[in-house]
Order: sequence, then C-alpha cells, then structure tokens
Amino acid sequence: MLIAGNWKMFKGPAETRAFGIDLREADLPTSVEVVVCPPFVSLGAAAEVLAGTEIGVFAQNCHWDPEGAFTGEISAPMLRELGVYGTIVGHSERRQHFGDTDETVGRRCRAAIESGLHVIACVGETEHERSAGETEMVLRRQVAALDADDNLVIAYEPVWAIGTGKTATPEIARQAHETIKELLDVPVLYGGSVNAGNVAELLAHDAVDGALVGGASLDVESFAAICRAASQLS
Ligand code: PGA
Repeated sequence: MLIAGNWKMFKGPAETRAFGIDLREADLPTSVEVVVCPPFVSLGAAAEVLAGTEIGVFAQNCHWDPEGAFTGEISAPMLRELGVYGTIVGHSERRQHFGDTDETVGRRCRAAIESGLHVIACVGETEHERSAGETEMVLRRQVAALDADDNLVIAYEPVWAIGTGKTATPEIARQAHETIKELLDVPVLYGGSVNAGNVAELLAHDAVDGALVGGASLDVESFAAICRAASQLS
C-alpha cells in the first residue's frame, strides 16, 4: 500500500522543513509506503529533513532530456542529485494547463525510469469523456504510452474528482483499475478528493494499491490519518 501526497504549488522550503519535522514525529504506520511530492524549490529541504526516514521524496514532473535548452524544466539527473527518489508524471493539471500529451508523458516517464527514479504516472478521464462513454478508450490510450517497469506505479485520477470533493464510487475505481491492470501489470493508486474519511472505502478493493492525495495531504494530521487508515487495510 502506497500513500503519496501531491502538494501541487503549495509549501516553500521553510514550510516544507516544518512539515517534515512534524511528519517525522507523526508515528506513521510502517506497513504503508509514504511519499511526499513538494514543488521543485522545496525538494532539497524535504530530502534533507526526511533523510534517514522511510518517507520518500518525489518531484511533480521531470523532463526527458538530461540537460539542454528547455527553460523552466528540470531533469531526472538533477532530481537525483538532490536526493529525490521519484517523480509524478502526466498529472492532469500538466496535461490540461501545460500541454503535456500522452507522447510527452511517455517520454518523461521513460527518461525518469532510465535515470533511476521511481515514477507515479497519472491517467484518468474528464467528465466529458466519461459522459460520452469514452473512459475505457481514454485509459487504454493513456496507458499505451507507458511501459511496464518495476519502478512504475500508475495513479488513476478521474479529472472530475480532482479537488472537487466528488470521488469515484468504489465500483468506478475498481473498473478503471482493472482496465489499467489488464494493460500493464503495475500497482495502481486511486486519486481524486481522497481524505481520511473516505480512504478506507476507496482502497478496500484488491485492485486499488494506494492513493495519490492532493488537498488532504497538506496538513500533517490529515495526511497521517490517511496513512493510518490505509495501514488497517494492508
Ligand atoms: P485532490 O488532488 O486530492 O486535492 O483531489 C489529487 C491530485 O490531484 O493528485
């Protein structure tokens, strides 16, 4: 069971340090793998304050080339140098607002894995795609851009459930997870409005291997409560 906190564009280095100190003291269950994904500028602080713990530090994105003329981008070797353990790729906010496509997500994912990073690759349909009956087709297309690897985890995040307070029903999550697992034999996390109150229900099915948590991961108590609830299931 893996619980990953995606901080998005929240918490600079000072807040990250304070959060890390509190998280170290939060007595997280050892049966759950715990990961935090701070913004780029806070990764060094997170890696420092969480060094020597079992808590992994992941970036939220990474470029496919090791270096080059790519203003505003960060490469996998640069992340490794900071002590970062993995990265998210293909989050729907990157796809929606920053032009990421299945092709660029696949390139980011391959490069990160080749550089020795672990990857959480995000897939998921929009509300429009779901109501048009296209969910399975979209998932198949997004997953086809990825290659199975021991260091790859997929996060199923229906776009309509992200930051909206609406979650998939356990049945919707089960169906999507099974579709993804038929295509690639990798662990699959659920993401989209997960909190301490709904995590047990959402993670109850065998096909759900953990959660990618946004808003509810920004507060230590709420994040620790999610990890504890998940540990009851693992
Ligand atoms: P949310 O975000 O938990 O705030 O819905 C999840 C995500 O975007 O990874």
